[in-house]
This record gives sequence, structure tokens and C-alpha cells, in this order.
Amino acid sequence: MEPYIRCEERGPVALVTLSRPEALNALNAAVLEELCEVMDRLDGRRQVKVVILTGAGEKAFAAGADIAAMREMTPEAAAAFSRTGHRTMDKVASMRAVTIAAVNGYALGGGCELALACDIRIASTRAKMGIPEASLGVIPGFGGTQRLPRLVGLSRAIELLATGRPCGAEECREMGLVDRVAEPEGLMDACMELAETISRNSATAIAHGKQCMRAGLERELGEALELEQRVFAMNFTEADQREGMSAFLEKRPAAFR
Ligand code: CAA
Repeated sequence: MEPYIRCEERGPVALVTLSRPEALNALNAAVLEELCEVMDRLDGRRQVKVVILTGAGEKAFAAGADIAAMREMTPEAAAAFSRTGHRTMDKVASMRAVTIAAVNGYALGGGCELALACDIRIASTRAKMGIPEASLGVIPGFGGTQRLPRLVGLSRAIELLATGRPCGAEECREMGLVDRVAEPEGLMDACMELAETISRNSATAIAHGKQCMRAGLERELGEALELEQRVFAMNFTEADQREGMSAFLEKRPAAFR
């Protein structure tokens, strides 16, 4: 059987593509498990500094969790499915590499939740994002009820939940749901350009910095600021600190490993 996830490495950048275009890349358990495995494998490769996630085909990043697979689920099966979804989203959210969602079309329900688990979202002008689960009689089950309000604020998130309406790329940018908007034909170039800029910096420093930010947001401010101090001190046990600072003082580009 063809794999649901394609993975291509271009130097320090890995391009991961959800590949189930006949169902608009809908996320069933097999897709989620395969995505989790691919991300886990990439996480073990230090040379991978940026992971770009996108959807195959012209129409969709991912049109959500697989509705056909969910319709007859028992509560127990739904709990297992949600656990699988969460495990995959948590894997994406905790990657050492910077993750960029290249939102090339519909990112609805679970597809929107996958984009939310990434560090950065760049959307094509064709993108439509939203959480239509209330129209199906359920709530977002892959982290959306938690990640969406943290990104766009509680009242906006409740409005999106309650209406289920899809939002265009510009509106998503205005509310902070996406970081940049690109023309469809320029989407991958915009993601690659950003990935190359990121790849020139210390992957170790970026991984530690984003870990501090993500962990800090879940903690009380004083505790989070202490975490930053500990991680900053830890940077001085690593080669990248010496290399980055030496390169600056010697007026040459840094050569991080
Ligand atoms: N699950 C399963 N199949 C899906 C799907 C999904 N989420 N989204 C689309 N498909 C399938 C369609 O059934 C259709 O299959 P067939 O050709 O076999 O009929 C194929 O993909 C193409 O879709 P459409 O014909 O519907 O394409 P369209 O261009 O007319 O509409 C769309 C596109 C507006 C995205 C529409 O497909 C749609 O509304 N999809 C569902 C979106 C949705 O509700 N997502 C939330 C799912 S629930 C969820 O995600 C819960 C969670 O958090 C865990």
C-alpha cells in the first residue's frame, strides 16, 4: 500500500506531505500513526533543523479527522482515536526542529489542529481554516479546544467553535491564526526561504528557546522566568555558544553543527 505520508529531506529541511488527496488528506488512525512515526524519526536526526508540513493535492492541507471512520465509533473507540490524535499533535508540538505548516488549502477540524500544533503557519490565499466540529455534533478532539484559544484568544475561539465557519487566509492572519500569507504558487518558496533563514542559526539554541516558551506558557510567570535562567546557563555547556560568540568577534559567519 502507498504510504499516507511522504517525506523528503533537502539538507537541513524536511518536507512532510500528508498524502491522501482523494479524501482531502482526512486524518484516520493510520494517517495519524504514520505521521507520528515519521515525525519521531525526524526528531532523532540532529541534521534536520526545520520540518515543513503540507497536504498533497491542490485543495487541502487536511479536511479534518476522518468522518467516515468516526461515524460508528463507540465512546471507547472515540477515546482511543482522540488519544492517537493527541499523541501525534503532541509529537509535532514538541519537535526539536522548528515546524512550519504550509497551509495550502482547507485546514478544518483535525487539519486545523495539526496546523495549530506546528510552531509557525504560512497560508496560501486559497486556505480556509476553521473548526466545524459543532456541525457534526462533536468538539475538536485533537487539541483544538486548548491550542486555538491560546493563539487567538478565548472569545474569538468560542466564536469559531460556535459558528464552525471557515476563515480565509487574510482573516486568519489578522487574528494571529497564521503568521504569513502567500500566493498559492509562492507558498513553498516562502516556507523554504524562512526555513533556510532558520537553518543558519543554532538549532540547539532554537530548540531550547522554544521549549522555554512552550513550557513557560503553561507555568506561573516567576517559575517560567526561572526556567529561562537555568536554560540560559545550560547554553554555556554547549559548543554552539562558543562558536556563535567567537564567530561574531572574529567577524565571520558561525558554523553551527
Ligand atoms: N473525512 C472523511 N472524508 C472527507 C473529509 C473528512 N473530514 N473531508 C472530505 N472528505 C472526502 C469527501 O467525503 C469526498 O469523498 P468522496 O469523493 O468519496 O465523496 C472527498 O473527500 C472530497 O470532498 P468533497 O466532495 O466534500 O469536496 P468539496 O470541495 O465539495 O468540499 C470541504 C470540501 C468543504 C472541505 C468538505 O469536504 C468538508 O466540509 N469536509 C469536512 C470538513 C470537516 O467537517 N472537518 C472536521 C472533521 S471532524 C474533526 O476533525 C474532529 C476532530 O477534531 C477529531
